[in-house]
Amino acid sequence: MDIVEIRQLKKYFKDGPKEVKALDGIDLSIEKGKFTAIVGASGSGKTTLLNTIAGLYEPTEGTVIVDGLDLSKMTEEQLTVFRRRKIGFVFQGYNLIPELTIRENILFPLALDDSRPDTRYFSSLVKMLGLENHLDAFPHMLSGGAQQCTAIARALITKPSIVLADEPTGSFDMKTTQNVAGLLKMTAATFHQTLVVITHNLELAQLADRVVRLRDGKIL
Ligand SMILES: Nc1ncnc2c1ncn2[C@@H]1O[C@H](COP(=O)(O)OP(=O)(O)OP(=O)(O)O)[C@@H](O)[C@H]1O
Ligand SMILES: [Mg+2]
Repeated sequence: MDIVEIRQLKKYFKDGPKEVKALDGIDLSIEKGKFTAIVGASGSGKTTLLNTIAGLYEPTEGTVIVDGLDLSKMTEEQLTVFRRRKIGFVFQGYNLIPELTIRENILFPLALDDSRPDTRYFSSLVKMLGLENHLDAFPHMLSGGAQQCTAIARALITKPSIVLADEPTGSFDMKTTQNVAGLLKMTAATFHQTLVVITHNLELAQLADRVVRLRDGKIL
C-alpha cells in the first residue's frame, strides 16, 4: 500500500520577475513502512518536495495524497491537525523554540494537541538520543548535535505515521550519524512508520530501502 501518492506535482516560486520551477512534474509513490532517501544537489527541490508532502506548501499544480487524504481538498485547519497527528517533521535548521527547555521542546507537539505524553516512550526516546541529562537546559546551551537530537525526539513524540526529515544528520559526526540513523530505522519499524529522509550523507542513504534522486525539480 502507498502512503504517499504524488501525481504531476509542480511547485513554482516567484523570485522577483523570475519564476523558479522548484518542482517540475513529479510522480512519486511511497510505500507504507519503507525508508526512502531523497538525494540531489543543493537547489534540486528536496526541501520543497518534503514541505509539500507535509502540507506546508500548496502545489502550483498536481495532486498530493497522504494516507488517503487529498491535501488540496483540505482546509487550513484540517491541514494543521493533519500535520500535528500524522507527520513528524525534522526541519533542516532544527527550529527549536529558544525560550523552552529541551523537555518542553520535545513535548511541544503534544501540548498543542492537548494530549498527554506516554512517559515510558518519552523516557526511552530521550535515553536513545542521549538527552537525559539535558532536559532542563535550553537549546542554546547544547551542541548542534544535541539540538538536532531534540528536533528528532520532538518529531517522534507523537508517534506519527510518517516521519519527514530534512538533513537530520547534518551536524553529526559519523558515529552519531550511524546511531541516529539506527534510531530512526528502529522507531520506524517499532511504530510501523514510513520514513522519508533528505540527506547528502551516502552512508545514511545506503540504509534506505529506496533512493529517489532529484535534479532541477525532476526525478531522475
Ligand atoms: N520560498 C521560496 N521562494 C522562492 N524560491 C524558493 C523558495 N524555496 C525554494 N526556492 C527555490 O527553489 C529551488 C529548490 O529549493 P529547495 O530548497 O527545495 O532545494 P534543496 O534541494 O532542498 O536544496 P538544499 O540542499 O540547499 O537544501 C531553489 O532554486 C530555491 O532557490
Ligand atoms: Mg533543502
